[in-house]
Amino acid sequence: MTKKIVVFTGAGVSAESGLGTFRGSDGMWDRYRIEDVCTHEAWLNNPQLCVEFYNMRRREALAAQPNAAHYAIARLQEAFPDTQVITQNIDNLHERAGSHNVIHLHGEITKLRSETNQLATIDLDGWEQHYGDRHPDGSLLRPYVVFFGEDVPYFPLACEVASQADILIVVGTSLNVYPAASLLHYAPTHAKIIVIDPNKPELGIYTDRAFHLQYPASIGVPELVKKLIDTYLL
Ligand code: OAD
Repeated sequence: MTKKIVVFTGAGVSAESGLGTFRGSDGMWDRYRIEDVCTHEAWLNNPQLCVEFYNMRRREALAAQPNAAHYAIARLQEAFPDTQVITQNIDNLHERAGSHNVIHLHGEITKLRSETNQLATIDLDGWEQHYGDRHPDGSLLRPYVVFFGEDVPYFPLACEVASQADILIVVGTSLNVYPAASLLHYAPTHAKIIVIDPNKPELGIYTDRAFHLQYPASIGVPELVKKLIDTYLL
């Protein structure tokens, strides 16, 4: 029977594309304060700074190229059509590598949203948002990013997907941010949990159950994908 595979990614999957991670030495949150750029209060107090911060992130994300891990995940989705990618990343490197129907838990950098309606998004052409532009609903436009403390609208859908997994592959996330990190709890008990990360994430009760491949994503993911195709399809 074809396996239902769920791939759950974080900043580490895009690290080798040149996009920095958030935690650890020289992480994004070492250089910027979350309270200044990634909370609703930050948006109310200094929206121009938030817009500038995400303009920079957008510029970097659009200049980056998918790496071997993004391509391998797209290959996996081609080989096992039921594969679902869930990402915490706001970049579009999964899509640019060929993945489709990606669930973005924390928003998408290529979109803006209405200040008053989290799901009223528009596509932005290019990297630059001009502060003051408005959504057709009349509200100010802001980056389509789920700020800390805000509702994560696609989390229930992600949980439903995870609850059907036979194999849950977790790539490049420190599992520090909730509710995203609790996705592992929704995997059924029979599901294999495979973690690819050069460091050991916060696995908590999954420390013994999860199989940790201690490699960078560009090496660990293509190897695992090859193994899954060899094991289940050939
Ligand atoms: P973190 O920065 O917390 O964790 C990145 C993880 O990637 C760490 O476990 C690293 O060991 C790992 N890593 C580093 N290089 C890697 C590589 N080459 N291959 C594989 N793994 C590698 O990032 P996230 O867990 O994604 O949210 O952070 C979660 C959320 O916190 C983000 O979505 C963002 C942030 O604040 C928002 O901004 C709302």
